[in-house]
Amino acid sequence: MCGIVGYIGHRQAYPVIINGLKRLEYRGYDSAGVCILNDNPQLFKCKGKVSDLEKHVGSNDVSGTVGMGHTRWATHGVPNDVNAHPHVSMKGLFTIIHNGIIENYSPLKTRLEKRSYKFKSETDTEVLANLIEYIYLKGNVTAEIAVRLALTKVVGAYGLVVICRDEPNMLIAARKGSPLVIGVGDDEYFVASDATPIVEFTNSVIYLNDNDVAIIKRGELTLKTIYNESLQPNIQTLDLDIEEIEKGGFEHFMLKEIFEQPRSIHDTFRGRISQDLNEIHLGGLYHVLPRLVEAKRIILIGCGTSWHAALVGEYLMEELARVPVEVEYASEFRYRNPIIYKDDVVIAISQSGETADTLAAIRLARAAGALVLGVCNVVGSSIPRETDAGVYTHAGPEIGVASTKAFTAQVTILTMISILLGWRKGHLSQEKYKELIKEITLVPDKIEKILGSNNEVIKIAEIFHKSTNFLYLGRGYFFPVALEGALKLKEISYIHAEGYPAAEMKHGPIALIDDKMPVVVIAAKDSSYEKVVSNVQEVKARKGVVIAIVTEGDTLIKNMADYVLEIPKAHEIVESLLAVIPLQLLAYHIALMRGCNVDQPRNLAKSVTVE
Ligand code: AGP
Repeated sequence: MCGIVGYIGHRQAYPVIINGLKRLEYRGYDSAGVCILNDNPQLFKCKGKVSDLEKHVGSNDVSGTVGMGHTRWATHGVPNDVNAHPHVSMKGLFTIIHNGIIENYSPLKTRLEKRSYKFKSETDTEVLANLIEYIYLKGNVTAEIAVRLALTKVVGAYGLVVICRDEPNMLIAARKGSPLVIGVGDDEYFVASDATPIVEFTNSVIYLNDNDVAIIKRGELTLKTIYNESLQPNIQTLDLDIEEIEKGGFEHFMLKEIFEQPRSIHDTFRGRISQDLNEIHLGGLYHVLPRLVEAKRIILIGCGTSWHAALVGEYLMEELARVPVEVEYASEFRYRNPIIYKDDVVIAISQSGETADTLAAIRLARAAGALVLGVCNVVGSSIPRETDAGVYTHAGPEIGVASTKAFTAQVTILTMISILLGWRKGHLSQEKYKELIKEITLVPDKIEKILGSNNEVIKIAEIFHKSTNFLYLGRGYFFPVALEGALKLKEISYIHAEGYPAAEMKHGPIALIDDKMPVVVIAAKDSSYEKVVSNVQEVKARKGVVIAIVTEGDTLIKNMADYVLEIPKAHEIVESLLAVIPLQLLAYHIALMRGCNVDQPRNLAKSVTVE
């Protein structure tokens, strides 16, 4: 999730673009670049924030009334000066900025290399720049046609702006899957990932739809599809302020990130599950897969929410890949002098990639000769740099301190690793392999459905936001989800909450239950459903108040519990991804009703870089 800005008009483009990029930095901030057209494209780009780009530009001549800029959230290629955008085609004819993922960039790149194209960066975007140039020169077509034809060959998501050196008074903007909006001013046009860079200049905007292409010349805008069908621009009037737009119209980043999960999970498996749903391909593990398949033991390490994702991972890997798995709190692992063998594989899970305890545990495991892998959300952060290989969660920047979309993205990756290992180790038949892959691809729509019951959650939050304690219970895959639900409530509402394996309750916590103790039971249909039914009866027998997460259509627990929230039917291995959503929403609404600072809760930091 990057931020892109373009401008053509009567103003100096550079200040419009730089200020616009600063507004979009919440979308990505690991490297930035700008291209201004005066006689020739003036391009400046570097690692770091937009303020670093300004220093990099310094007193260079950036005069010109056409230009574009980009602030990056890396997916392909670590954040550095070379991988920063804009990217220029080999012969310099096309300059491009891009937000999204070109899934088929590798086969396109191979074909271009066969036609002696050379590449400077590791990015999918540079491949598109060269593809456009190749078509432009080979087909002897206009820049617009070259861009449209190239986009018909692309699989994936994009919001992009292209400048052609031969047609300097023109911007070409296109969108599929990634957001893009055009601001219509007096004799000027603005292009951006959202309206935050635009609202200070105009509130007349055109939101591009999938496969739309805008050819923007001075004082003239033409809208078409990539298939050359003409379109009538639908100019809308914007009535949102900047803060509202940054949060996508949501009141808080946390709520926005909860509602982003259908997209973030889709982006996390995008390009890693083959179009025909027959295969999982995790490029980042390609070179180490044999060692992973042969591993005698897998140790999953993390902290906080990432540790909870690791716990779901343990259940998945042991069930699907039949490999022994241990889950370790990184802070304990690093000091308890653990036994680590050379044929162990250690997988470190972290949203930020900067958590000190997890980093130290990684160094310990590497020193012991284990293969150390990472599952991380921030490209180029320390953990990816200090591990042998890994997989990025493509959840996009997570601003809310309470982790939500990173958790489900981590579990999605661990599910894909477990299914792949199970198949490669011969524990899953080809048929089962395909069936489970399909289950993953159905998750985004099911979460969309759960998000539709947000009002049900609000009703329950209204009843319980004054509670002083909560218990969360779950069995199997739902035990880590119970822990995660309790953590979310604790960290943003400051209510004391504990998560427990439902059967553990009889061994102590049941003493806490009375008619003032809300007990959240994750009781969706799975192999331990019958057992959970009796746990709910035990709580009700002590006058506990049960809030049950059930599978839609469940009547048994529905008649026993005081309040229910439904989730769609799904295969057991993906149910944790569904069951956590109502718990995230419950914590959010309770914290809101208690007047807590949901995005920046007290005493907490988004990334714990100290011991
Ligand atoms: C979760 O909501 C918290 N922000 C915290 O527990 C977090 O999960 C933990 O600090 C680990 O962070 P990481 O994933 O960035 O390593």
